[in-house]
Order: sequence, then C-alpha cells, then structure tokens
Amino acid sequence: MSTSAFRFVCFLTASLAVSTATAAVNFEKEILPFLTKKCIDCHKAPFEENGKKKEPKAGLRLDASWAIVKGSENGPVLTAGAPDKSSIYESVMLPKDDDGHMPSKGDDLTKEEAALLKKWIEEGANFGGWVGSTLGMPAGAVTELAKPFKPRTRDLFYAALEKEVKTPGDEAFAKAKAAGAQVSPVKVDSPLLRADFLTGVSKCDDTKIEALLPLKENIVQLDLGRTVITAAALKTVAQLPRLVSLDLRQTKVTDAGLEALTGLKKLETINLYGTEVTDAGLKHLARIKSLKHVYLWQSKATKAGAKQLASAIPGLKASVE
Ligand code: HEC
Repeated sequence: MSTSAFRFVCFLTASLAVSTATAAVNFEKEILPFLTKKCIDCHKAPFEENGKKKEPKAGLRLDASWAIVKGSENGPVLTAGAPDKSSIYESVMLPKDDDGHMPSKGDDLTKEEAALLKKWIEEGANFGGWVGSTLGMPAGAVTELAKPFKPRTRDLFYAALEKEVKTPGDEAFAKAKAAGAQVSPVKVDSPLLRADFLTGVSKCDDTKIEALLPLKENIVQLDLGRTVITAAALKTVAQLPRLVSLDLRQTKVTDAGLEALTGLKKLETINLYGTEVTDAGLKHLARIKSLKHVYLWQSKATKAGAKQLASAIPGLKASVE
C-alpha cells in the first residue's frame, strides 16, 4: 500500500494552468458511476444485515470523497498525481488471480473505466466538490479535503515533461560547469534542469551559452539575467525544446533577437526587465502561444504594446510596471 502521500514539491509560486488536449475528468459524472456499481457494495459505511454489523472491507470506504482520501486500515489508497502510488488504481490493474485484484468479486472495470481512473488521478484527483456519504465523517473533513486535492497543475506539467527525458551523462554536466554554468535538478531526482550563470555573469557571453547544448533536452529553467549575452545567444536558447522559464533581465537582447524564440513550444515565462526590448519585440513574442507571463518593467515596451500582446495570447499577463 502506498504510504507516501503528496510528494510533489512546488517550486514555482505561480499556479499556472496546464494546457491539456482533452478535458479534465469529471469525478462525479465519469468515475463515481462505476465505483458505485463495482466497488461500493464492499466498501461503504458500516450497515446491518440479518442483525449483523457489516464493516467496509479493509476499512476502506469508497462512498465519500473524505473517506477515499482517508484510505483503508492500511493507510492511504490515493496519491494525487501518481496512479502508480494509488492502490485504488493499482488494485484494479493487478492480474485477476492476484489476491489483491479489485473488485474481488463481480465485473472488472473496463479498459475505458480504468483509463479514466488513471487520468483522474494524474490530473490531481479532484472530486470537484463531491462529498458523498457524510455518515461517520470527522468534523472538518471537507475543508481538509480542499487542501491536498487542489490540482497541482505546475507539478503535473513538469511530471509530464519528465517522462520525455533521460538524465544526461556526466560529460554534459562537466561541459556546462566548465563554461561557468550552475546546473541543478528542478527538484530531487528530476531529470529536468535549471541553469544559471550567477557565479560569473560578466563572463557569460554568447559562446558560453553553447556549452548548455548537451543538456538541451533537459533544461526547463534558464537564468541569463545580467549576463553579457547578445541577441545571438537566443539562437542557442531556441534549441532548448522544453524551456519553460527564461530570464533575460538586464541583458543586451534586442527586438530582432526575440524572433529566434518563436519556435519554443513550452515557454511560459520570460523576464525582459531592464532590456531595450520595445513593442516591436513583443510582436515576436505574440507568436509563442504557450506564454503566460512576460515581465517588461523598465524595458522600452509600452503599456499599449503589453496590452496588445496580452490580447494575442489568452490568459497571458504582461506587466510593464
Ligand atoms: C466483493 C467485495 C469487494 C468489491 C466489490 C471490491 N472490493 Fe476492494 N477489497 C475487498 C476486500 C475483501 C479487500 C481486502 C483484501 C485484503 O485484505 O487482501 C479489499 C481491499 C481493497 C483495497 C486495498 C485496501 C488496503 O489498503 O488494504 C483497495 C484499494 C480496494 N479494495 C479497492 C477496490 C476498488 C477500487 C473496487 C472496485 C473496482 C473494489 N475494491 C471492489 C473486497 C471488495
């Protein structure tokens, strides 16, 4: 049984929406019906039958959101974001002859039902306000519920990116380090990386950036703030397909230079504080539809330019001051 609860670490304060191709799973409409049909007979509030009190199997009730969160007599059965650490999902995937296979009697979940359950957990196991049976509910259970099950879209977003990449070899790290880059995982054990040159910004020029290329598949956060790069460095930056956050504050990047970035598909945040970038540069950024935050304080961009950029990308925040 899974004992680890919510192990994701939030490393960005901003909670940004994930762009998913399909709509989020609706628990009440898409999951509850098959749980009710195939699981709840054995996993519901204690009841009397022929004068005998019947307890839920394994102490696990699946008839209420707070009860699902509480888990069984053995601990949690659900870990938001991680189906492989959620026995509520793992048990239905076990081979039929395994003692732990669920349901232990009756019809199995269909492939589609299992896939929905998996997706719902991956998306953060959000009950969407459904409470279910309040019999035996501890005081405050519902307010507690709202906390751990807020969808952690930021974590899920990185979790999806993580699946696509391997941890690079030592030589790749050594090369970056020799060029003055500090590279570290975005969280423990993640193959996704953040990189900066904060120990020697004045030595970080366009050629130094090239030393990051062996790590290009892995870099999601890049801080080039106050370095001596020019627009040419952005051609290198453009080769980081998973770049999510880019800090270019107080650099010499130009409007024209920004055009190189238009091929980045994951870029959500770009900091242009204290650059010479004008509204003309923002026109290039308007083509990066994944953008969510553009920081333009003390740049040459105008409020009108920022507004126009924001109107080109739904949900984008562009701040000039
Ligand atoms: C016919 C009765 C029955 C049905 C129906 C049933 N279960 Fe169970 N469930 C059990 C029993 C009995 C156990 C305890 C098994 C054990 O201790 O080895 C159990 C244990 C579990 C556990 C492990 C709890 C723990 O932490 O030990 C999970 C998770 C679970 N069931 C989920 C489900 C799901 C999901 C469904 C529906 C797809 C379901 N069950 C349907 C009887 C049932």
